[in-house]
Amino acid sequence: MGSKLFVANWKMAKTFSQTIDFCTTYKNDLIDLSGSTNGQLVLCPSFPALASIAEILKSTTIAIGAQTCSPHKEGAYTGQVSALSLKQVGCRFCIIGHSEQRALGISNEQVVAQAMQLIECGIEPIICIGENSSINEQGSTIEFLKEQLKSLTSILTTDQSITIAYEPLWAIGTGKIPTIPVLNEIFSWLSNQTHHRLIYGGSVSAENAHELSSIEHLDGFLIGSASLDFQNFEKIVSLAS
Ligand code: PGA
Repeated sequence: MGSKLFVANWKMAKTFSQTIDFCTTYKNDLIDLSGSTNGQLVLCPSFPALASIAEILKSTTIAIGAQTCSPHKEGAYTGQVSALSLKQVGCRFCIIGHSEQRALGISNEQVVAQAMQLIECGIEPIICIGENSSINEQGSTIEFLKEQLKSLTSILTTDQSITIAYEPLWAIGTGKIPTIPVLNEIFSWLSNQTHHRLIYGGSVSAENAHELSSIEHLDGFLIGSASLDFQNFEKIVSLAS
């Protein structure tokens, strides 16, 4: 696999104005950071800021991503945003199946439908998978991931560019991460299941980025709270490139 992906998932943490301020203030630093790594930086703000930051960062190597999209192509779906609209505003990536979206009722079938819409529009899906704490405590993580991957078979068997983000739910926003040997085992297993790019998410920070980067078969990170601050994000990218 080629260069690492560093995906900043800003969730709903930054408002429209804060997102614009961040991208304007740190535009040159982001360009320098992007130039200093052979990794790909991806910024994922909430919907309203996408078009504006695509404009601020146009003709740079920094990519823009959304945090979800509609499973439908077009039509009467109040509140939803189509993959085609995301493409038109300049998205190259879109996170789907994040546990915070699944908690609102997004099913595996809908994640497949979202991925299909994105692929059709030339956007790379970043599909989140991961077990909750009770499955983890029962030692059933691999069985659970096997089922999640099975539900994605129809898209994972294609040659399209797809990223799978392994994000254990209990590691999101908690400061807890699986041990390095456990992650090595999971990513080695995942790499046998799929030829698509594999990244890790859940409490990635400047403190653990270096040791996480030693994991084999790991091609990047999905970074939540630590990506909100430029200096932290910069450290993670530098330490894990
Ligand atoms: P976190 O979030 O880095 O704040 O744990 C990661 C995510 O939910 O994508």
